[in-house]
Amino acid sequence: MLATKMHCRGGFSSRRSLASGHSHHGTNQIPGVRAASRVAGKRRVCPTVAFVGTNKEPAVPAVVVPLGGDTPLHTPQNVQARFLTADWAAAFRTQPDEFDYWIYDIEGTIPDFLRGSLFRNGPGNFERGGQQYHHMLDGDGYVSRFCFAEHNQVHFRSRYVRTREFVKEEEADKVLFRNTFGTQRLGGWIANMFDLYLKNPANTNVFEWNSQLFAIWEAGLPYRLDPYTLGTMNGRPDTLNGTLIDGIAPSSTSSVFLDQVLKLGSAMTAHPHIITGVPPEQSRLVTWSWRSVLKPFGDADMAIKVTEYGPDETKLGTTSFVMKHCFFNPHDFAVTANHHVFFQNDLKFNMLAYLLGLKGPAQCISFGPNPMKVHVVPRDGGTHKVLESESSFLIHHANAFEDGDEIEVWSSGWGPEALAKLKEQERVNGESGMLGSWKVVLAGDFTGIPFTTLWRHRINANTGEVKRTVMYDAQNMDHPRVNPHFYSRKTRYVYFNASERPSSPGEAGPPQVFVRFDTETGEVQSWSPGQRCFCEELIFVAGPAGAVKEDDGVLLGMVYDGETHRSSLVVMDATDFTKGPLVRIHLSHHIPHGLHGMYSEKYYGPPVDPYLP
Ligand SMILES: [Fe+2]
Repeated sequence: MLATKMHCRGGFSSRRSLASGHSHHGTNQIPGVRAASRVAGKRRVCPTVAFVGTNKEPAVPAVVVPLGGDTPLHTPQNVQARFLTADWAAAFRTQPDEFDYWIYDIEGTIPDFLRGSLFRNGPGNFERGGQQYHHMLDGDGYVSRFCFAEHNQVHFRSRYVRTREFVKEEEADKVLFRNTFGTQRLGGWIANMFDLYLKNPANTNVFEWNSQLFAIWEAGLPYRLDPYTLGTMNGRPDTLNGTLIDGIAPSSTSSVFLDQVLKLGSAMTAHPHIITGVPPEQSRLVTWSWRSVLKPFGDADMAIKVTEYGPDETKLGTTSFVMKHCFFNPHDFAVTANHHVFFQNDLKFNMLAYLLGLKGPAQCISFGPNPMKVHVVPRDGGTHKVLESESSFLIHHANAFEDGDEIEVWSSGWGPEALAKLKEQERVNGESGMLGSWKVVLAGDFTGIPFTTLWRHRINANTGEVKRTVMYDAQNMDHPRVNPHFYSRKTRYVYFNASERPSSPGEAGPPQVFVRFDTETGEVQSWSPGQRCFCEELIFVAGPAGAVKEDDGVLLGMVYDGETHRSSLVVMDATDFTKGPLVRIHLSHHIPHGLHGMYSEKYYGPPVDPYLP
């Protein structure tokens, strides 16, 4: 009966309620979360804007569209902002439903080579029991999946990750746990003090390896999902065959006995990397775990263990090293043919405010005065070297490769000037400078937030020299990606999402355009889905020649439309962004603005109905 509903087209399919007990493939039943099969309503096509230029050209003239209904600006200082506060906030409206349906609202023809599955993850809910979350990053993980079938058919499915905390909070219908970005139990600091257990929202990324699927968050263990149903498996986080330690916090006292008594554990990064091998048997999954090793006088070191897996999940080796005076794990890392590269941003932590229950841990972070450290770790287990570079804050690394004696890494983040501005704001406001612009549960506000830009670091581990140059700084940008076949090799093109080009130099904004950047010529091609739309990370899917021709393939990117309150997936031609999307796949509902994901060549959708149009 369910199969009939799933294949229903043109008419309204029946809703499926998890609470009613009719779950599919053993997905846990959670009161309050609804599962639905939906059909799309009337589709609206956004006005679009394409742009070709270079990194250094002035901003394109503003496309003035009467907006109405809301102030188009956050504040007087942000007078050139080109988005509506209400639209950006609506991109983070809770999605209470889970979906399972064939999409029929598709513009364009899906390329023949696109026959796998796109997985995305991001926060799906922003309140619990009437209590609004303090920050969008505290939202519970909501995994979406697009499966590309024959005959221009696409199947969509979405599920919340049933973490231990999510299940308990759904049942209680209230916030039971402290959260990293400031959401706490009601009752003030007394209700939260000395509780070091944080909710694992499993909301940051999702990756597939050897037909195993995991939802991940960087300060906890991964959750194993069924890639076909998206159901959460086992009801507890996964230790990756004992590689990770399940505990209340990713910390250590340096005593195994004490760690066990205190139930301290470890965490896995939310940014593992996959190295595409030739032949495929040479492919590697490279991931790492971390523990904060507590030291006297409020200091801490960070113990990091990098693990490499073969295609069949065989563990091929581990490399361990320590970052001195480090409270916080790097968000991302880079892998070259012979090295792992970690950038240690200098951060301080107000432990007392966290212990006393006054703030979440991320609210207790502030930028430190010291240079950024660069850790170069040989993949064969050799001695790791620590270099220094001017104080910066790097977030994501698009690619890294070796060039003679040097390692080149491409990264998004704040450079020294931007960091100095943020430090001054911290001094004036007394708040962490990292969290402001994404606190969009209440209202997005980019006032005073400097650009994150694309940087090139050239690292010579023999001489200790680290050279830093700007690659792209015309727009606020992030989530840079390259063709995965070329990861760890020299590349020419990088793809990312970015804000509109501002009239106020350096003033950031939310991501509203997709960009293709040619690092050799400086050519910039960008495409905007419209002034009320917001763009997520682009994911490269290689075409038939994509293993040898770098820009043979497509980019998949989610778009949220504030006017229709719906989301769509666009398929961009990797060789040309100026012509707009090859395909637009319209959902009948919204998906909250998400974070990261990946594409698998494997098709995990249901069988295609040959009678479908
Ligand atoms: Fe990330």
